[in-house]
Amino acid sequence: MNREKVQIFDTTLRDGEQVPGCKLDTKQKLVIAERLDKMGVDIIEAGFPVSSPGDFLSVSEICKIVENATVCGLTRAVKNDIDVAAAALKHAKKPRIHTGIGTSESHILHKLNTTREDIIARAKFAVAHAKSYVEDVEFYAEDAGRTDNAFLAKVCEEVIKSGATVLNIPDTTGYCLPEEYGAKIKYLKENVKGIENVILSCHCHNDLGMATANSIAGAINGARQIECTINGIGERAGNTALEEVVMIFKQHPYLNLDTNINTRELNEMSRLVSESMGMIVQPNKAIVGANAFAHSSGIHQDGVIKNRATYEIMDPLDVGVNESSIILTARSGRAALAYRAKKVGYELTKVQLDLVYIEFLKFADIKKEVIDADIHQIIEASKIQGELIRN
Ligand code: KIV
Ligand code: ZN
Repeated sequence: MNREKVQIFDTTLRDGEQVPGCKLDTKQKLVIAERLDKMGVDIIEAGFPVSSPGDFLSVSEICKIVENATVCGLTRAVKNDIDVAAAALKHAKKPRIHTGIGTSESHILHKLNTTREDIIARAKFAVAHAKSYVEDVEFYAEDAGRTDNAFLAKVCEEVIKSGATVLNIPDTTGYCLPEEYGAKIKYLKENVKGIENVILSCHCHNDLGMATANSIAGAINGARQIECTINGIGERAGNTALEEVVMIFKQHPYLNLDTNINTRELNEMSRLVSESMGMIVQPNKAIVGANAFAHSSGIHQDGVIKNRATYEIMDPLDVGVNESSIILTARSGRAALAYRAKKVGYELTKVQLDLVYIEFLKFADIKKEVIDADIHQIIEASKIQGELIRN
């Protein structure tokens, strides 16, 4: 059965690049953009063109090399921002302007010092002005997560009339719970005139560790675009991680949702972004962390060696990892030791394994992790009687 597609909007090069110390030059951005395009991302947010001449150049150069994806430039609801973004997007095969303004009481009163009426007027102007340059205009209601739903619906209705094609509902501060965020999307689907003609988009931040859960709740309730970054990088605690949402849809087919991403590219993509930005991926990061497919306790290792699915809910090959790893530590059992010994060339009998295991535990209690070179040393030191089969 054909599953409905959720568009993947990658903002690694915009929201992701806002991370302190992670600035990329144009050349690095081009490499990443090309790879994102190849991986099947639907929309690449290439930057915020008015923010600096360097960002303008990057967006403009990215437009020239991207073959399939829509290329998007961010703006505030400001005429000059939109003019500059339109110029930067000139060479894109499929250009999109992403414009917007804060809609929560906090933004209206404290950041913008204005009124709800003025917000609607500025939003409508920005969308109409962007529409004079490009057909595809995305509107973001900044801090939508903390915006009262009735006012949010009113803003959405007005910008649809002005020509918005995509409505981005950001949980800018990462405050929402999944039920709340999902209910917000449902409310907009049910209460905004013209909503059937636009795509609703989730843009969730991870301040409470809810970014992925909120985005999935949004999609379950009708959003058909998710804004995300590789490795979940982004402002403060980051954004929704691309690899997580993509694999959630893949591993839960009953949701009836899917993406265009070639998941086998995920691991390499993660490394490329991490190395380009000099930002390490936490080892326990879902999908792409170094430990995501590593098993170290004896009970788990025994289960995985007998059948990988005992402790793995996805095939590492599906995300571009060649195989699960069995890490040898003092918590490992005989099954793991025999498995790793076999990999480095020894077929141990049961009696031999018992002897080697005693030596192994002494060694592992001193060393945190036993690597392949250590296995040879341990086996040679184990005073095994009889023939040792080396394969
Ligand atoms: O988090 C946010 O609200 C944003 C917008 C600019 C889309 O990044
Ligand atoms: Zn953001």
